[in-house]
Amino acid sequence: MNILLTGGAGYIGSHTAVVLTEAGHNVIILDNFCNSDRSVLERLKQILQKDLICIEGDVRNTDLLTQALQEHKIDAVIHFAGLKAVGESVTMPVEYYANNVQGTISLLEAMKVSNIKNLVFSSSATVYGDPQYLPIDENHPTSATNAYGRSKLHIEEMLKDVANSDPAWKIICLRYFNPVGAHESGFIGEDPNGIPNNLVPYIAQVAVGKLPKLNVYGNDYPTLDGTGVRDYIHVMDLAEGHLAALNYVADHSGWIAINLGTGKGYSVLEMIEAFEGASGNKIPFNIVTRRVGDIASCYSTAEKASQLLSWQAKRSIQDMCSSGYKWQNYRSTLA
Ligand code: NAD
Ligand code: UFG
Repeated sequence: MNILLTGGAGYIGSHTAVVLTEAGHNVIILDNFCNSDRSVLERLKQILQKDLICIEGDVRNTDLLTQALQEHKIDAVIHFAGLKAVGESVTMPVEYYANNVQGTISLLEAMKVSNIKNLVFSSSATVYGDPQYLPIDENHPTSATNAYGRSKLHIEEMLKDVANSDPAWKIICLRYFNPVGAHESGFIGEDPNGIPNNLVPYIAQVAVGKLPKLNVYGNDYPTLDGTGVRDYIHVMDLAEGHLAALNYVADHSGWIAINLGTGKGYSVLEMIEAFEGASGNKIPFNIVTRRVGDIASCYSTAEKASQLLSWQAKRSIQDMCSSGYKWQNYRSTLA
């Protein structure tokens, strides 16, 4: 199949590009590089031994999207492009709605006029808001606690309406839990701008000596050791989940939401220990007060993905930490 990856130069998109290309699909990336670096294309070439087509542009440019869909005879789209920083979304809600919601409307317009109706959308466990029960299944009520989460919810709702309007649409919303780790080559990985907000990229930068110490946000949660528990999923497992989702949408009409997680949670202290094991380096940390807006625990049930997509996460937290460390070391050698 010819598959368009909006935001395909980013963290999850680049890993998915590897998996899809290796499975024999023809990948076309469209990205405006607002949160990624053009050098990822060279690094993808090192892994794949071939050039991927990349169109530089914004998903809000409907004419550009329409041209890309038609010129490359696209069969399905995976829509990764969007802004994703929770804290930033609270101070810049207009930019978040413009990029995420308006970007999706633009994509849907281009797909509609081009009669291309197979779509996989990057959603998030954030649409479950504060968990009412664990593990979280797809029937858990949805809500949002910030503009980023609300943009994902608005898009999911909009996609439901679109699927209801015409049975030709085949739409799957993948609700990712906490993607971490990197491709086993270490050539691509998560590359946040400035000081990382998320745990694993932060630990990785402490492990290579780029940052001095980790702040652990609270050890008084009702969890096994008092620190926050999350469902960390290896980004290569997540990428393989997209391949499975593409196979599913090919012959299932309508709208569906599916969790992509492992079904198991790990605490902050467990992640620190795993990273120390993988890197052989001590991760110094301080316990500080809770981060505003954080929840104690969040993990999925992965049953729907297993039943409908015949997919499940295979890689361990050791794999997540060792690949993340390998990437962080390689990253330090880049400009
Ligand atoms: P990322 O920032 O690394 O990748 C997103 C890519 O989209 C970047 O390359 C960026 O340049 C591009 N982009 C953004 N706005 C664009 C626009 N208007 N036009 C064209 N390109 C644009 O993020 P990621 O971690 O790879 O996340 C991919 C998707 O998955 C996002 O939609 C994100 O909200 C969602 N998601 C991510 C996580 C996570 O923890 N990483 C969790 C749940 C959901
Ligand atoms: N944490 C620390 N120190 C840090 C960073 C994080 O102790 O420097 C802790 C947090 O308190 C939390 C855990 O590590 O207990 C995980 O935090 P992350 O920031 O890595 O991940 P979150 O679960 O808070 O949020 C992420 C994304 C959201 C997304 C959510 C579910 O940032 O956008 O996963 O997919 F909605």
